[in-house]
Amino acid sequence: MKTRWYKDAVFYQIYPRSFCDSNGDGIGDIRGIISKLDYLKDLGINAVWLSPVYKSPNHDNGYDISDYRDINPEFGTLEDFKEMLDEMHKRGIRLVMDLVVNHTSDEHYWFRESRKSKDNPYRDYYIWRKGRGKDGKKPPNNWTSRFTGSAWKYDELTNEWYLHLFGEKQPDLNWDNPKVRQEVIDICNFWLKMGVDGFRCDVITYISKREGLPMGKFNPVMCGDEHFVLGPKIHEYLKLVNSESWSKFDTMIVGEAIGCKVGDAESLIAEDRNELDSVITFELMEVDMKMNFFPVKLNLPKFKKVISDWQNLPANCWNTLYYENHDQPRSVSRYGSNLLVYRKEIAKMLAVSLHFLRGTPYVYQGQEIGMTNIYLEEKEYIDIMATQIFSIIRKVFPPLMPLARWAMSKRARDHARTPMQWSAKPGCGFTTGKPWMKINPNHADINVESDLKNPNSILNFYKELISLRKGNAIIRDGSYKLHFPKHKSLFVYERALEGKSYIVICNFKEKTVHLNAVDLKARGAELVISNYKDAPKHFTDGQTLRPFEARVYLKNG
Ligand code: GLC
Ligand code: CA
Repeated sequence: MKTRWYKDAVFYQIYPRSFCDSNGDGIGDIRGIISKLDYLKDLGINAVWLSPVYKSPNHDNGYDISDYRDINPEFGTLEDFKEMLDEMHKRGIRLVMDLVVNHTSDEHYWFRESRKSKDNPYRDYYIWRKGRGKDGKKPPNNWTSRFTGSAWKYDELTNEWYLHLFGEKQPDLNWDNPKVRQEVIDICNFWLKMGVDGFRCDVITYISKREGLPMGKFNPVMCGDEHFVLGPKIHEYLKLVNSESWSKFDTMIVGEAIGCKVGDAESLIAEDRNELDSVITFELMEVDMKMNFFPVKLNLPKFKKVISDWQNLPANCWNTLYYENHDQPRSVSRYGSNLLVYRKEIAKMLAVSLHFLRGTPYVYQGQEIGMTNIYLEEKEYIDIMATQIFSIIRKVFPPLMPLARWAMSKRARDHARTPMQWSAKPGCGFTTGKPWMKINPNHADINVESDLKNPNSILNFYKELISLRKGNAIIRDGSYKLHFPKHKSLFVYERALEGKSYIVICNFKEKTVHLNAVDLKARGAELVISNYKDAPKHFTDGQTLRPFEARVYLKNG
């Protein structure tokens, strides 16, 4: 029987390559994670989402899997993994693994077989088509890869093309083949039987492609979406894996749901649908990011509307709350300004704005100490998204290069992937060797060791917030109401249950803002938490919020 344990959970996301390196090869690993479990327990989190640790040639850092039942030797062994799982469970921490089954690596056995001939038993595990045009030298349709360029790759061996919605070394699986669906079910059961507590399903909204793979509406960057985002059989396939695997264990299944709008959410996550438990929406990320890679100024009313629309989903739906993950820039850099002066206030204010919402919050490694974006020279970017964007722009229209560099300095996925800053030492306590990726030079100031010592640190603030949520019925079950929806600087909302309510006030701007708060009818309400030490202990009808100030009051009756 499934319990809804995740409704009381705070998740921590680990990006294993950058978390902690135990053997000095510069790459984070499982024994490194084990060594930090006490740290995580102390932080108060009770579940981990672990980005992929399976065997992989790492063209997309593990999101290209070549063996679903084994661990990448860089990270350790299956025995190490089992020990980690055991040590997590001993500490009351659940483990949710990444499940990347929209595509595999081109080095997976299935694909190596599939390529060989048109009658290979694995041929239909993937999506192969003849090219267009007289000589078949044009891709089968105009769909684009999420990493730029055509989504098709020609293979001489059989004179056909295969579909890859991500990198060309990430061929898409053919979910219309029942054997593929059975493989996915078997993989899930393999890990669940071992004791894993659930999955974060990578790009799960892309698994069902429209029959005939029709041409997409013209769009030079993202073409074809209308034929594979929430495609025709998505619900059928999710229900199948749910009934044959997920529902048989006490799991939490969260789907990465690119392209899923709030209006689509119920069909995937309402409890009686038996599909997913929650989705990771991109709607909030799109408020200040166009076409997934071009940053625009944050429009706060829009930001609040997106959050509120999701908060207002029916009671049988459950939200995933996040500002950061391994694909997004650091939130203090993204939503804040003047980090030299206000970084701590910003990090804490953002944490407040998220952690009082209804849903399961996720803390991405380093977010709890306010890690920032990094400055990189063009040649220092490693991630496939930034490097492919640079190379295509240089080829197609070089005058746009400065713009591309500017966009990546704000948006690249590399920002989230710099090594976790454990200490001020060279190697930042992450490694004693040469790190696989550049360490942010600001680790001299921003690191776990110094935050642990400082009672006013971001880290200690997170601990307080996380412990405040534990068993807190108002935060878990209370109603949600947005106040002052059009306000351009403040995000004000109320969570109410049985006559009590939290009033959450967050100033997203680097300026002092006055608010006439008489309508909130909260005069005298008691201060629960704030990122400014001298915030007024009792609520007054006139509120004066300093730069990035956050205040939460508890109103009785
Ligand atoms: C998801 C992952 C991302 C990866 C992509 C392809 O969006 O979060 O890191 O590149 O899927 O697997
Ligand atoms: Ca290592």
